Amino acid sequence: MAFTPYSRVALVTGVGRADGIGFEVCRQLARQPMTVLLSARTLEKAKPLATLLQREGLDVRPYAVSVTSPPSVQQLLGHIRRDFGQLDILVNNAASPARQGEQVATANLSHAHSMMEATLYGTWQLCQVLLPLLRKSAFGRIVNVSSGAGSHDDDAFGLHSDNQMGISYAIAKAALNALTSRLAHEESTDTLRINAVCPGFTASFAGGAELGGRPVADGAASIVWAALIDNDGPTGGFFRDGQRLPW
Ligand SMILES: NC(=O)c1ccc[n+]([C@@H]2O[C@H](COP(=O)([O-])OP(=O)(O)OC[C@H]3O[C@@H](n4cnc5c(N)ncnc54)[C@H](OP(=O)(O)O)[C@@H]3O)[C@@H](O)[C@H]2O)c1
Repeated sequence: MAFTPYSRVALVTGVGRADGIGFEVCRQLARQPMTVLLSARTLEKAKPLATLLQREGLDVRPYAVSVTSPPSVQQLLGHIRRDFGQLDILVNNAASPARQGEQVATANLSHAHSMMEATLYGTWQLCQVLLPLLRKSAFGRIVNVSSGAGSHDDDAFGLHSDNQMGISYAIAKAALNALTSRLAHEESTDTLRINAVCPGFTASFAGGAELGGRPVADGAASIVWAALIDNDGPTGGFFRDGQRLPW
């Protein structure tokens, strides 16, 4: 599919499977007049997923990036510059999975470190490397996919609830929220909007619906809302379904 210069280009990270939230975010974004770069850790993983969406008539292209690898992120930047010369929307969806039942007092700290690597530092690195392109866009958006688990006041899932999601995951998402807030403060312009979004408890894993998870399309829509907000929309906030969540 030919790329029309000046149409929007969106990148979604961590799209490793067809039943994950990132894949559905790619689909919903590509239904807009937009080219979507579907990225997974490897091109071998990304290609068949992009092909599935291309068969729906959507302009989705496969890319590889491991968000924890500086050379891989630099290589991605080179490819985006070569292929499009622009980036308008960055959805930082990649994250390590939660480890159920983990507590602060007994958590395995090497697991906690690797959680921070993907969820916090991976996102941080993508933001640093891609900001020069996003700043040039007339419609620059960064959406950091967070979780109510990282909120101090989300009664259902937050840090002060009895949710057993795993504390490394929750603390990494809380740090991601802090990164989002600070970055939005530093990048305060008329054209950049930078927000953290929780997709809500979403049935993106086996047995998720039976546990009360909502459809993946709904979780993805929560994220897509922030990717498409107008230039006069909020920046530096934390949202689920377009509603503010407490930090
Ligand atoms: N499902 C929920 O209820 C829920 C609730 C709140 C927030 N979220 C957030 O929503 C996002 C999507 O979640 P999901 O449920 O669709 O689960 P998921 O499949 O685990 O999504 C995370 C993706 O990140 C990728 N990833 C991990 N480390 C990476 C790295 N270093 N480089 C590139 N990609 C990497 C994984 O790739 P591999 O497959 O290759 O490991 C995986 O595809 C995550 O940020 C998650 O924390 C989910």
